Order: sequence, then C-alpha cells, then structure tokens
Amino acid sequence: MSRFVLSLDQGTTSSRAILFDTSGNPVASEQEEFAQIFPKPGWVEHDAMEIWRCQSAVADAVMQKAKVTAADVAAIGITNQRETTVVWNRETGKPIHNAIVWQDRRTAGKIDQLVADGNGDQIRAKTGLMPDAYFSGSKVAWILDHVPGARESARRGLLAFGTIDSWLVYQLTKGRVHITDPSNASRTMLYNIHTLDWDDALLDMFRVPRSMLPEVRESSEVYAEVEVDMLCRGVPIAGIAGDQHAALFGQNCFKKGALKNTYGTGCFMLVNTGDKPTVSQNRLLTTIAWKRKEQVKYALEGSVFIGGAVVQWLRDGLGMIKKSSDIRGLCDSVEDSGGVVMVPALAGLGAPHWDQYARGAIFGLTRGTTTAHIARAAVESMAFQSADLLTAMQADTDFKISQLHVDGGAAIDDFLLQFQADILQLPIVRPKMFETTALGAAYLAGLATGVWRDTAELEKNWQVDRIFEPQIAPYEAAEKKAVWNEAVKRSMHWEKP
Ligand code: G3P
Repeated sequence: MSRFVLSLDQGTTSSRAILFDTSGNPVASEQEEFAQIFPKPGWVEHDAMEIWRCQSAVADAVMQKAKVTAADVAAIGITNQRETTVVWNRETGKPIHNAIVWQDRRTAGKIDQLVADGNGDQIRAKTGLMPDAYFSGSKVAWILDHVPGARESARRGLLAFGTIDSWLVYQLTKGRVHITDPSNASRTMLYNIHTLDWDDALLDMFRVPRSMLPEVRESSEVYAEVEVDMLCRGVPIAGIAGDQHAALFGQNCFKKGALKNTYGTGCFMLVNTGDKPTVSQNRLLTTIAWKRKEQVKYALEGSVFIGGAVVQWLRDGLGMIKKSSDIRGLCDSVEDSGGVVMVPALAGLGAPHWDQYARGAIFGLTRGTTTAHIARAAVESMAFQSADLLTAMQADTDFKISQLHVDGGAAIDDFLLQFQADILQLPIVRPKMFETTALGAAYLAGLATGVWRDTAELEKNWQVDRIFEPQIAPYEAAEKKAVWNEAVKRSMHWEKP
C-alpha cells in the first residue's frame, strides 16, 4: 500500500517538491531557486529547460531524503505558477524561446490595441479576465511573431504551447502527453470558461493555431505515468491545478463563500463562488477553481503581482539584505515605517487597479529614513494590496466575510499577519500547514487514486496554528489606508501618463 503523495510545486522563483503522508502532513520537502531573467525593463523570462532540470532534481532529492521508492508513492500532483508561457518544438522537445513569465509587460501595447479595436467586452465575457498582458494569449502571439520561422512552424503543427503544468507533464512523459487542466486553461485568455473549450474567436484574435494547444483534462484524474528516468518513474500523475486554485483546495475552501489569501511571489485572494461564474463589478477576475468528477467550481480572484517578490527585490535588486529571512530582523529594528509607504508596482498593478503602466514608488522619504523603514514599508505593502482585494471582494459578493484564511511562504511572518488583521479589522487565520498550494495538488492527485475518499475526509486534516486579532482602532486603520490609497494614485500611469 502506497503511503505518500508527491506534490510538485513549480513557483515563480523556485521549484519545490513535498512528500505528504495520508494525513496530509509534509514528511519531507526540497526546494531550489532558479534564475530570473530580465532582458529589458518590464520583461521577465525563465529558462524552461532550467525549470525542468530543477523541478526533476528536487523531486528526486525529496524521495531520497525520505528514503522512499516509487512503490511508496500513490500519485503525483502538479501545481504551478500560472500564465507563464512556454512554446516548444514537438520534434526536438526544446523551447523555441525563453518562457515569458506572468509578470512580463512586453505585450501591454498589444492589449491596448485589442481594447482600442473594441475587443475588451468579448475577452471579459468569455474568459472572465481583464484585458492585460498578465495572461498567456498575448505572450504566445509575441513568441510566434518574434522567433524567426515560428508562425510557419506553428501553421505546420510543429509547435506546442503550454503553461508550466503542461510543460512538466510533457517532460515527465517523455513528450507523449500534452495536457492541462481547466484552472490553468482559464488563465490563458484563449479558453472560454462557459463552454469549457478553447475559443475560436479568441484564437483568431491572438492568431494562435488550435493545433498548438494542450488537451484540457480534469484537475483530478489519472492522466499518465511518469516515463522519464527518475525515482518516481511509474507513479501516476493524477492532479493538476494552477497554484492559487490548488491553495484554495488545500485550504479546504470547497464550499461557496470560502475564501483564502496566499502570500507568494504575488498575493492572490480567491473566493469559491460555486457552480456558476460570478461576474465582478469591481475589477476582479472570474476563474475556474477546479474541475472534478465532471463538476466545475468557479472562483472570484484578486491578483496582486508583487507580494513576497518585493523582499526578493530588496535582496537581489537593491542588495539591502543577504537572504530573504533577514527582512524580519531589519523590520523589527524600528517601531514603524517612519512614514514611508512603498507601492511595489514593479510589474504594473493588478487587481483592482489594472494599470499596466504603473511603476514602483517609495513615498515619505526624509533624512531620517533608513533601510529598516523601507523594509518595513515593503512588508506592509503586501498587506495593503491584499486589503484592496478584500474590499473589492466584499463589494462583489454577499458572502459574510468574518475571517480570512492565509497561506504561502510569507504567512510565516507574524508581523505581516498582525498588520493585515489591523488594517482589515478582521481576524486572520493561519493553519498549521500553510504550504497549502502543494497540499492542494497532493489532495487532487490523492482523491483521483483512492488515497482519500472524499473532501469530507480532507477537512479533518485542517488545523489552526494561530489567529491574529485586530489590535488597532478602526479609525487608525482607515487613516493608514487613506495614505496608502494616495500613494497608489500617485504611482499610476507612470510609464504612459
Ligand atoms: O498568477 C501567477 C501566480 O500563479 C504565481 O504564483 O506562487 O509564484 O506567487 P506564485
């Protein structure tokens, strides 16, 4: 009897592999960061081969560490940074360009043009997305337009497109299987979330041939076995979901109205809206949460582009800290941010502002400002941005929101969560297991292979670690948010006033 489920969590800045036992406890984990490539201001790329190399390396390493063999592993679940676009040659199996990362802004002008040509409403109605360079469609088109000969190869059926989940399955199956799931498909801007199919009008609009696209399977079913020479060879791949959707699942948000916020590279708040898509009046996205047993669940999503990535930028861009965890000591060395407010619009602003041309800004600097104040303002910016999402969500739905479940790497930071509770004036609930992205993918795979019977069984695994109650008065929270709103306003339309 297999005792473990292996989760492959391919994020924006690192690849991770976590082995879970049948109670949903992580027994071992491995992680490797990989290169972020910034060829020009506003451009962000990854080397898809490097992603595969480090993802397969951590998968092997975690099995070695836990001393388990393929026979001990019931299933593999895959979860991934979404929207990031890989185009590869089906004959060589090699990418024809670096992967264009979700944060990349190079296609902002193309999106403007589509909107100016009157396509905005159609995009919004069919995909549930805001017209923005964030999503895959304009990125695929860019690769086809800029790599010599690519359009012709695509026309001849030689090229394949995939988000990172597709790319990993393709590699794990030695190029035999080219699939994705509806949660990832719903982020491409090419997929109709109502008909549950790639949409011909959208494919025409972005000039992407249907022959490049993966088959869309359910988020929880056995797709194939690992064929490549790895320690998990022969294990069924049985779950796929975009990382935010997997986190929603891992937080047991199975019912309508259940809500979570993840502090990863970005911050992503999702609420389960049940069997029907909800149309946002407040610039949130409508997205497919997952599809299981022929049933689709929808979600409303607020997406913030720079969350924990702001700490990485302080480390790698400014050299202000040596390792990410140094941020805590630096923040704790001051009482407050000393009036400094940072708007980390390093990749434009996502929900609810959707300004492709906003850029990062730091306000309130004085002669007394130190790196500690800036670090503190950077951490606070994650909470301020998340608060904007919750405000939009409250306006969009009639769900009673009495607390917020949180997860993701930065959720380890007590100061961040306390600040979040303060400005939201809402209890913040951190579960014991807050790597819920990986857990959600494991759950999806384990449900498909009989490790777990149903979601009721999963609910028993969830345990609270700590609840952060608001500690400041409502008027103080309102004052802080007013300053933040003013800072956001001033950082908008910077590139293109
Ligand atoms: O939409 C982008 C998102 O999927 C990236 O997630 O975990 O890398 O911040 P993460």
